[in-house]
Amino acid sequence: MTDEKTTGGAPVEPAPPAPAPKPAAPPTKAAPAAMTRRGFLSTIGVAWTSFAAACAAGAVATGRFMFPNVLFEPPQSFKAGPPDEFLMGTVDNRFKETFGVFVVRDERSIYALKAVCTHLGCTPNWLDAENKFKCPCHGSGFYRTGVNFEGPAPRPLERYRIVLADDGQIIIDKTKSYAYEKGEWINPESFLSV
Ligand code: FES
Repeated sequence: MTDEKTTGGAPVEPAPPAPAPKPAAPPTKAAPAAMTRRGFLSTIGVAWTSFAAACAAGAVATGRFMFPNVLFEPPQSFKAGPPDEFLMGTVDNRFKETFGVFVVRDERSIYALKAVCTHLGCTPNWLDAENKFKCPCHGSGFYRTGVNFEGPAPRPLERYRIVLADDGQIIIDKTKSYAYEKGEWINPESFLSV
């Protein structure tokens, strides 16, 4: 007995088996590769942007170095007028605001006190009625000589160089100062004999 079917006596071939389904294609690698390239290009872009920003900042800094801000400070040396403009026993405030200097005249000399408190650098005021310099910040007091006597100031006010010019005017030179505690007030240029 055979299992072949017949049609009109001719053998009929069996239908070929259905093809097996193809396995699913593996996920493509193309997309991640494209992302990686974009990421790389993006990184390069960021790096170049940073480099360009750093170069620009350097150029600006160089420009500021080549053209610095100009500070218009008062001159470090100035003429204060002839000695007889300063009355005996007075403290002259005329140069305090502009030059930071008190000019004091006593019986024998004229000297220029630096108007900077030796505590933390505030500007003291001369109080004529109390016959003393008083610092408004923490209350230090100084005699008219500049020597400290109250408050936290640790030492006397300094004195600037003071000399006579050829035309007879007093020159006060702020590039040189003299400290009492260093014994510098005996320097002949720390006072002007009158
Ligand atoms: S700064 Fe003058 S007492 Fe402090």
